[in-house]
Amino acid sequence: MAVFQNIISSLGKSADFFTVFGVTAASFVAFKAALGVFRFISTYVLAGLLGLSADLKKAGSWAVVTGCTDGIGKAYAEQLAERGINVVLISRTASKLDDLAKEIESKYKVQTRVVAVDFTRADIYSTISRSLEGLEIGTLVNNVGMSFPFPEYFIELENREQVIRDMINVNMLSMTMLTSMVLPAMVERRRGYIINIASTAATAPLALLGLYSASKVYMDYFSQTLQQEVSNKGITVQVVLPGFVATKLSKIKKTSFMIPSPTTYVRSALATVGIENRTFGFWSHAVQGFLMASILPSMVQRNVMLGARKAGLRKRNQKKE
Ligand SMILES: NC(=O)c1ccc[n+]([C@@H]2O[C@H](COP(=O)([O-])OP(=O)(O)OC[C@H]3O[C@@H](n4cnc5c(N)ncnc54)[C@H](OP(=O)(O)O)[C@@H]3O)[C@@H](O)[C@H]2O)c1
Repeated sequence: MAVFQNIISSLGKSADFFTVFGVTAASFVAFKAALGVFRFISTYVLAGLLGLSADLKKAGSWAVVTGCTDGIGKAYAEQLAERGINVVLISRTASKLDDLAKEIESKYKVQTRVVAVDFTRADIYSTISRSLEGLEIGTLVNNVGMSFPFPEYFIELENREQVIRDMINVNMLSMTMLTSMVLPAMVERRRGYIINIASTAATAPLALLGLYSASKVYMDYFSQTLQQEVSNKGITVQVVLPGFVATKLSKIKKTSFMIPSPTTYVRSALATVGIENRTFGFWSHAVQGFLMASILPSMVQRNVMLGARKAGLRKRNQKKE
């Protein structure tokens, strides 16, 4: 109330309630916008330039990366190794894992361990647990994820029941189980970073990508709530919300300022660790995420999905012919 009285007296006696309310609301919006711009600049410009991000090596000599033989996961594995951190590489294809392990060991002079498992299965966690025994794990990157070949109505999904099980196992179960595996030792040592790769699809309900979008919301909420539970125990849980990155999953090859390469994207996202616990990871994805969540009408988003569905169906039918 004192704030209101101060504003009224500074505006003069003629100021009515609505004027005061308007000035207060406008000041609040301006303050929030300024704060947003400051956060944007400090996260995506200053953090990288000034080296403000967390020193992940201090948390432990090993990192674990899932879905690491391609795309975003491969870039995390390489850039963690570049910082002198040993890496446990967990992914599906044994030959690709062996090649990557050799490449990382010779290029970055760190140790690696490989674990070949298929995350669509729910019975793989004792194998993973045995492979992690005795390692001081300071960083976990829950990156593995799957989507549909193209946006599709839930009811029209090919092999729907299989897709449901696979997507829940890959996108949700893997993150939850891996976190459960490494967190107790991190808490005991009072050091650790858990980085969960969700998607901008978690920021707005995306029709025709519903299962994917919902699985990423699960990652987002799990990460945010866990962060609240363990932040006083020396643990950082970061959820990353990428927009399009040029990878196999996105089926995009050409990079642009909106669609970075995995290397560029991860360089930017890793610079935000210790600064932002919920981040788009890359400056243009932050702008896109803001537009999706606040301004872009859901009608426009739905039309984009319908267009992508049409193109996907056309390609699939051409392949079948
Ligand atoms: N790319 C984007 O535009 C984008 C946007 C938003 C969010 N994301 C998220 O970022 C994460 C990484 O995506 P990405 O685009 O980098 O994917 P990607 O290039 O397709 O790479 C996926 C990696 O995960 C592994 N993998 C896939 N399915 C697996 C399974 N069932 N079991 C074990 N490993 C499996 C693949 O191994 P193989 O080589 O053996 O297949 C590969 O190493 C995902 O969680 C995705 O949802 C991506």
